Amino acid sequence: MPIQLNKSINSSSTEFNLIAGDLQGNILMPHARNFAAQIFIKFKDSEKAKKLIQKKIVPKITTAKQQKLNSIAFKTNKNLRYKRFLNFSLSKTGYDFLNVLSTKIPQDNSFKQGQKKMSPGLKDPAVNDWQIEFQTDWHALLIIANASSKLLKNQVKKIRNILNHASVDVIYVEMGTGLKNSDNNHIEHFGYVDGISQPHMFTDKIEAGKISTNNWNPGGTLDLALVSDPGGKDENAFGSYFIFRKLEQNVKAFKEAEKQLADILDVSVDYAGAQMVGRFRNGVPLIPETPPKPIQTKKFNDFNYDLENSSAAKCPFGSHIRTTNPRSGKKISSPQFPRRGITYGKDSTNSSNNPEKDVGLLFMAHNRNIASQFEFMQKSWANNTNFPRQGSGIDPIIGQGNKSSEQTYFKKWGDETSKIEIRPSLGHFVTMKGGEYFFTPSISFLKRI
Ligand code: HEM
Repeated sequence: MPIQLNKSINSSSTEFNLIAGDLQGNILMPHARNFAAQIFIKFKDSEKAKKLIQKKIVPKITTAKQQKLNSIAFKTNKNLRYKRFLNFSLSKTGYDFLNVLSTKIPQDNSFKQGQKKMSPGLKDPAVNDWQIEFQTDWHALLIIANASSKLLKNQVKKIRNILNHASVDVIYVEMGTGLKNSDNNHIEHFGYVDGISQPHMFTDKIEAGKISTNNWNPGGTLDLALVSDPGGKDENAFGSYFIFRKLEQNVKAFKEAEKQLADILDVSVDYAGAQMVGRFRNGVPLIPETPPKPIQTKKFNDFNYDLENSSAAKCPFGSHIRTTNPRSGKKISSPQFPRRGITYGKDSTNSSNNPEKDVGLLFMAHNRNIASQFEFMQKSWANNTNFPRQGSGIDPIIGQGNKSSEQTYFKKWGDETSKIEIRPSLGHFVTMKGGEYFFTPSISFLKRI
């Protein structure tokens, strides 16, 4: 019997045990290591590549089962965070190069086309303006992660040797390093706490009452990320589409815009920035605090915008978190998906030296259906000047395309009459440098590839 994907599950359930040994890690829960190497691979010889995958890569993959066991053991043995995490995904070009039978290739249309073909619809820069390495059609992406950058470097070196011996044609490594603030929370380069709101495909924390769910239940069904793997051993072999996008952040321009907005509104820089993001720097959301107190509740996530106090004057409709998750009910649903990104580049969040380039987010995410999840969120929500309301403007963090629309901000929290329209809208501080769509297949498929 195939397990039902339209629900979330407990990680101790029979259902999880049925799928966990054949499923790769980082899909249902994040690998949670602070250092990660994203290794892009182009094979030279399909037969040698298949042997490499079967003999050298598969035995190193961290399955969902191993990831769960490690996270339990970690509670008693902190050294386990130094255990290597590894997973492996293939692009459609990779499947074709390896001569995989068409009946065994995942059928998502955007995956089959590849990100380059889909990028005009996302209003990305033209492919020949992407970072040169991403203009290549990569066959595979191998991710190795560790809590120690030194150990990770050694592991990357070893993998490079293995790949070179297997006559891999080209390798490109994109290093990610998690940034943290003084509260030990993960932040992105504009300085805001990130990764607070995520679908929880495991019900464990919710059932244990560790997450408050009065107004927002983050319990996400498995089908926000999992799909049946057509090449897998049986009906309980699953995989997931994997989106990679390198997003460069212009920190200087963002900080200037925060300051400019604060001057126009005559509010603090902190409050101006919070209106663009929807949360203060330390993660406190603009809803439902009355009025918000940035130093108190920190990673609070139990809110929705249907609450009586959810007008735009409290959290602007166009702010990043309201545009990407309008929370019209109390429960998470598609198009939401697990985000697995990590920051890259030098940490300058504590200095006055705000970089204009070479820092940003390696945006990574797992999807069940790329068009109706990631692409829908980017195209129909973030880039749309009329979502979630007529005239709310593009998402000031990730909106692409329309530069001349307007956005609405407020001089006073909760006061509709204090609204100010800004034109042209603030945004375009993030530049897409390149990306690809992959599929993270079941272990059984890779063993028999
Ligand atoms: C450099 C690029 C980006 C930056 C700096 C950024 C920053 C942030 C921050 C600070 C948060 C608040 C923390 C949280 O609620 O988890 C957030 C949340 C979120 N972001 Fe982004 N983000 C970026 C790219 C993206 C992209 C490309 C997407 C999807 C197309 C996206 C979708 C989301 C979603 C869905 C949330 C959670 C909203 C909620 O559930 O309330 N982000 N992001």
